Amino acid sequence: MSGHARTYAPDVEERLRADAAVILERYPEQRSALLPLLHLVQAEDSYVSPAGIALCADLLGLTNAEVSAVATFYTQYKRRPNGRYTVGVCTNTLCAVMGGDEIFDRVSERLGVGHDETTQDGAITLERIECNAACDYAPVLMVNWEFFDNQTPTSAVDLVEALAADQPVTPTRGAAQVQDFRATSRVLAGFEDGRADEGPGAGEASLVGLRIAREHGWSAPEYPGAATAEDTGTADVAAAEAAGTAPVGEQQSSTQHTPPTPSEASGERPDDAPAATAEEGDA
Ligand code: FES
Repeated sequence: MSGHARTYAPDVEERLRADAAVILERYPEQRSALLPLLHLVQAEDSYVSPAGIALCADLLGLTNAEVSAVATFYTQYKRRPNGRYTVGVCTNTLCAVMGGDEIFDRVSERLGVGHDETTQDGAITLERIECNAACDYAPVLMVNWEFFDNQTPTSAVDLVEALAADQPVTPTRGAAQVQDFRATSRVLAGFEDGRADEGPGAGEASLVGLRIAREHGWSAPEYPGAATAEDTGTADVAAAEAAGTAPVGEQQSSTQHTPPTPSEASGERPDDAPAATAEEGDA
């Protein structure tokens, strides 16, 4: 970790610039790469560090102030070193009504930290979060952006105690095991970890509406002037959906996910390559 230094050590900077080159080649407009580059910085430092800001600015021809303006706009970018696990308790309307506020209070009391604070051992950063579009599983809690559905104060406290003890935890949906904040940040930067197709992609509660719509023959109205399925070449998919035979929303709904390209795979950090390779082999 670079602490609050304004530059990286030469070997670290060389590695980060190699990773950044992989990211930049995906964007015709280089500035569009800023968001994944900021995740890359967080994968290195656990927050958007001064050295990371300077590196992004240099890579993209921006000022430090312009990079900071973006980084401070989104709550997913951290202004202080983050814990190994970000525990986000949804306290937006539905989750709050279903017990989210009580969950936050109990977890906060157990950890001894409030919103946007990190435990002294650096294990957990606690946050109140806004709706995560998982209201059908309220109240929900997220750990490094993995879902934990239908929580209770007791299950949430059990979860943070397991995280604090660095025990493996399994989200309700998504990857088979929660990764730490830096590893998650690296995935958000665009370097796949081979876990995208682990675990269920959609749960029963999310599929109920789709099933009812099919039973009644309901479909969304078309926008006037919108391209038709024939125009877009998706007529076969539309017909399958109308017939209820399309594999939409079934478990592992990300099976059309494109495997990483060799250049993406080569973006693995050299110093953690053995562990990453072992995890990918298990996936
Ligand atoms: S209100 Fe919590 S996920 Fe929507």
